[in-house]
Amino acid sequence: MSLPPSARFRLTDDLSICRILNGMWQVSGAHGAIEPGPAVDEMFAYHDAGFTTWDLADHYGPAEDFIGNFRRLFAARHGVERLAEIQAFTKWVPHPGRMTRRLVEEAVEVSLRRMGVERLDLLQFHWWDNSDENYLEALDHLADLRDEGKIRHLALTNFDTERLRIIAEHGVLIVSNQVQYSLVDRRPEARMAAFGGARGTTLLAYGTLLGGLLSEKYLGRPEPARAELTTASLQKYKRMIDTWGGWALFQQLLAVLKQIADKHQVSIANVGVRYILERPSVAGVIVGARLGVTEHIADNARVFGFALDNADHATIEPVLAKSRDLMTVIGDCGDEYR
Ligand SMILES: NC(=O)c1ccc[n+]([C@@H]2O[C@H](COP(=O)([O-])OP(=O)(O)OC[C@H]3O[C@@H](n4cnc5c(N)ncnc54)[C@H](OP(=O)(O)O)[C@@H]3O)[C@@H](O)[C@H]2O)c1
Repeated sequence: MSLPPSARFRLTDDLSICRILNGMWQVSGAHGAIEPGPAVDEMFAYHDAGFTTWDLADHYGPAEDFIGNFRRLFAARHGVERLAEIQAFTKWVPHPGRMTRRLVEEAVEVSLRRMGVERLDLLQFHWWDNSDENYLEALDHLADLRDEGKIRHLALTNFDTERLRIIAEHGVLIVSNQVQYSLVDRRPEARMAAFGGARGTTLLAYGTLLGGLLSEKYLGRPEPARAELTTASLQKYKRMIDTWGGWALFQQLLAVLKQIADKHQVSIANVGVRYILERPSVAGVIVGARLGVTEHIADNARVFGFALDNADHATIEPVLAKSRDLMTVIGDCGDEYR
């Protein structure tokens, strides 16, 4: 199996990514136990199928070490020259407070060491507290480390549009912002996408499959009790559905997505991912991978074999129109963390 050229996106002049990124929060331990050996072995199956881009973080349990192990095995199997085929995007999620050069550099060094790379392809920076402006100091140091060659490109995660504006005016070049973006959570459309579009800051979407709730598995199912929500993702996005409009409305959404999926001979998950990939400013969708436990590689490859048409949008929109406006209820992207 190989993916068509449309599966690739040029994030920057020197960085091409797969538009479906493999999400590694699922190996953190919050989504069930993961066996390191089989997990790293399965990373080859993703790569060989064309899913060459990984999203991870310093705090996703062993994720950075898995990248390190994968790269070592990959180099032994295919030669070091082919390591350039792998893109691994980590995050740095510090506690707020003063951001000295030493503290920032040490954090970057830890990721470099764990991942076994000389330069981080993309470092996505997260900040918990908008009232603490030290994030600008952290970004200045990160920009210096980028200019010194330790980071290829700087990115953000869960920043709101107002902070993106402040950072742009401060003069730090940011290539992407990773935010929750799905048929249920369309807040990036309110302000962020237009802002990013004007400045070349793309969006990497997560939560698009709502931890797996956006699939045939939950179509026609009664509302799951908390005990049935066995991963951190399922719990997180079930709460999002409750805020958005509740389980009955979500079932209406699944029902129309199923009609569209059948028409294109794809899955509900494919329609959900495709919908977000076709939105302005979206570079890619991150789909969580419970490595060595479950995999949807062949199904997710189908996302690149069809497109949504006007009739599909006309079918979906009336259901979405019945939901609450999450910009009003929660606030802009990332406000759910603050
Ligand atoms: N920046 C942030 O704050 C942040 C927050 C959350 C996530 N993320 C990133 O986004 C990634 C995705 O995590 P998420 O929590 O948003 O989960 P998600 O991608 O919405 O859901 C992942 C789950 O969806 C199911 N799935 C995948 N493909 C499917 C298909 N074709 N058909 C049916 N089900 C399918 C699988 O469930 P089963 O395993 O049960 O089959 C998988 O574990 C994370 O790993 C992380 O990299 C970032």
